[in-house]
Order: sequence, then C-alpha cells, then structure tokens
Amino acid sequence: MRVVVLTGAGVSAESGVPTFRDADGLWEGHRVEDVATPEAFEYQPSIVHAFYDARRAALADVEPNPAHQALARLEQLLGDDLLLVTQNIDDLHERGGSQRVLHMHGELQSALCRGCGGHYPWTGELGDYPPCPGCGVAELRPDVVWFGEIPYEMDRILEALTGADLFVSIGTSGMVYPAAGFVHQARLHGARTLELNLAPSEGTTLFHESRQGRAGTLVPAWVDEIAWAMARGWAHDVREK
Ligand code: OAD
Repeated sequence: MRVVVLTGAGVSAESGVPTFRDADGLWEGHRVEDVATPEAFEYQPSIVHAFYDARRAALADVEPNPAHQALARLEQLLGDDLLLVTQNIDDLHERGGSQRVLHMHGELQSALCRGCGGHYPWTGELGDYPPCPGCGVAELRPDVVWFGEIPYEMDRILEALTGADLFVSIGTSGMVYPAAGFVHQARLHGARTLELNLAPSEGTTLFHESRQGRAGTLVPAWVDEIAWAMARGWAHDVREK
C-alpha cells in the first residue's frame, strides 16, 4: 500500500501559523506579488527579507499539533511506502516527529546562495546580508519557491503519484499548481483520493471522498483508520484500483 500525502497551510493553522488565503488574500498584510516573486526580491529585497526573517523568527512561538503528530505516526506505520509532501515552509512536520518530509516549496530554515547555488541550514536573519557559508559572497536568499519558479523534487513526487494506491490532500486550498494537479495525476494512475480540509476547496469534487473539519481532529482519526486497516491486512475499502 503506497500512500502519498500532500499538506498545505491548513495543517499548521491550529499551531498558530496563519494560512495564506484566509485573510482577504493577504499574507500577513502583504500582497503575494510584493513578497513571493523573484521580481519582488530583485526590486525590494529588504521588504522580502524582512517578511521571511519575521516568519522564520515566529517559528519559535509555534508547536506541532495533533495533525503533524498523527502524520509522524503514519510514517512509523508505513515506512518507505509513505511519501509526505508539504507545501509548507515551516518545520512543524519535523518537530512533530516526521523524519522524511519533502518540502516542495522550500524551507524557512534554509538559505539559498545565488552565487554558488548551495543550500544552507539557516535560523538567523538574512536581511543583514550575511556572507554565504560556502562561497563567502553576500548573495543569500530565502530558500523558498516563489511564483514563477519550479517547485523542488517534482520528478520524485510525480513518480510517487504514478505508483500510489492512495493520495491524501490535507489543509490546502487547491489553488496553486502544480500541487493542485496532484489529485489528477494520482487518479489517472488508479489511486484512491481523499481530501481532509476545513472547508470545500477548489478541487473538492475531484476527490473520491472529501471530509470537512479541523486537521487536528480529522488527521488522527484517519491515521487510526489506516492502522486498523493494516492490522486487518488492508481491507478493500481503503483502496480502489
Ligand atoms: P491556503 O491558505 O491557500 O489554504 C489553506 C487551506 O487550509 C484552506 O482551504 C482552508 O480552508 C484550510 N484550513 C484552514 N484551517 C484549517 C484547519 N484547522 N484544518 C484543516 N484545514 C484548514 O494554503 P495552501 O493551500 O497551503 O506557495 O497554499 C498553497 C501555496 O500557496 C503555498 O504553499 C504558498 C502559497 O502561494 C508558495 O509560496 C509558492
């Protein structure tokens, strides 16, 4: 039983990390194009750095919630048969206990050097233009994927979707591609698809099943179902091939 789980901002909402689209389309008071595009960084790097520096610092004030912890339990149950893909740039999956998380939109706690192309663990600020630990040039940027850039690890994700028996989307509005298209890919190759989200998303009707509620409640309950199905030897109701 191979499972691909995609998470979005909704999985971290109950930890106190604001979602992107639940506040009039503003990200903590900023328009998307002012902080999440290569053009914004080109023309107003100090604003972009200040935005991501503040979000990085804010990680110290949040904790993983039962949804993150349940997904860590799922990893223990499934091992290599689980691919956990997140659009989130926070580290709450890792702090919740997941050890193998694929951050397709990058990570707040990583810096990308525009000089040498290296990725470096980063917990401090970038707005004071520190030198790159690798090449020494002061060309570090947040290691996050902005609009117009290609998400990380797409080959690996598409391969996993091709072979998945079950695809589960948790806490994402389904408005940003390519992640919003994963449900199509999974269905095309015969996976069963399940959505767990607070409210109907853009893509709700594309899923075989959609459950509405808070991730902190829905995700532990769903992982319990998986554990139960595994104990019974994977009943056919979990899978549709
Ligand atoms: P959004 O803010 O677009 O959507 C969050 C979703 O979570 C919404 O559908 C909410 O209904 C749902 N939600 C809110 N609270 C929830 C809760 N407690 N439990 C379950 N669901 C809840 O965030 P994403 O879909 O993650 O990309 O956004 C996708 C991408 O858009 C982000 O990764 C970011 C942004 O542009 C980049 O920065 C490249």
